[in-house]
Amino acid sequence: MTVDVSTLEALLSTQPAFEQGSVWLVGAGPGDPALLTVAALSALAQADLIVFDALVDERILALAPPRAERIFAGKRGGKPSVDQRDITALLIEQAKAGHRVLRLKGGDPFVFGRGGEECAALARAGIPYRIVPGVTAGLAGLISARIPTTMRGVNQGIFLATGHGAGDNGAADSIDWRLVARLGQPILLYMAMRKLPIIREQLVAGGMAGKTPAAVIVSATSPKQQVLITTLDQIVEDVAMARLEPPAIVAIGDIVAERRRLAHAVEVVLAEVAE
Ligand SMILES: C[S@@+](CC[C@H](N)C(=O)[O-])C[C@H]1O[C@@H](n2cnc3c(N)ncnc32)[C@H](O)[C@@H]1O
Repeated sequence: MTVDVSTLEALLSTQPAFEQGSVWLVGAGPGDPALLTVAALSALAQADLIVFDALVDERILALAPPRAERIFAGKRGGKPSVDQRDITALLIEQAKAGHRVLRLKGGDPFVFGRGGEECAALARAGIPYRIVPGVTAGLAGLISARIPTTMRGVNQGIFLATGHGAGDNGAADSIDWRLVARLGQPILLYMAMRKLPIIREQLVAGGMAGKTPAAVIVSATSPKQQVLITTLDQIVEDVAMARLEPPAIVAIGDIVAERRRLAHAVEVVLAEVAE
């Protein structure tokens, strides 16, 4: 393939200059560098310092010039995550020192990405900042498993949620899953792998049929992508049997069965655990 470099350069030149002493919060997308935005690429090219999360693909970090310092601010090897206050303090300190600080987050910074907290802290400190949206793992993950997000005649909405606080009764981030079951719309879950037993129990208690199709998509859009197709009834056992580990998104609803209509799409699923 011949790439017209001047076209790409012209596109990049339309992007704002990354001013010294500012912070850009940028979504790095779900993993595949091809799903980066032009704005994210421009940020990578201009940054002095990149503060990145665990789910930022190393192929994306490699696109930044070697002169850019890279600082890891995620969770690794079962160790606790870096404290959010330490991250915001670092962003503020480095911006005050006159650097162009790129805060690079997996997916979209505002989809379960704590982008709001970081922006609020930057605003309080009087640091100029810009937000660059990214392709969120949930939506990219669905389509890379050939599952449509919406399909006319099948669903009129989709419920995006974190499974993180499931079952933590009274916690601010807990969700009434019985009520969600009654929406009659598909559910797309982030951070739900450890809470699948309780989520399943509550969805079934809310009236969702056990035979509702479900999918688990691991490391979506990366070379390690795996797709499990199952049902609500079987999801916990099938995930355990296939030894699937996060990061994964979970889709529950009739859109999963619509994969058959997308059967002739160019295959992006690298490994399917079950059909
Ligand atoms: C803290 S949230 C961040 C979400 C991110 N801001 C986004 O928009 O995709 C992390 C969760 O996102 C999901 N996730 C992120 N990247 C993923 C990927 N490549 N494949 C599957 N799930 C992913 C997983 O549920 C993971 O536990």
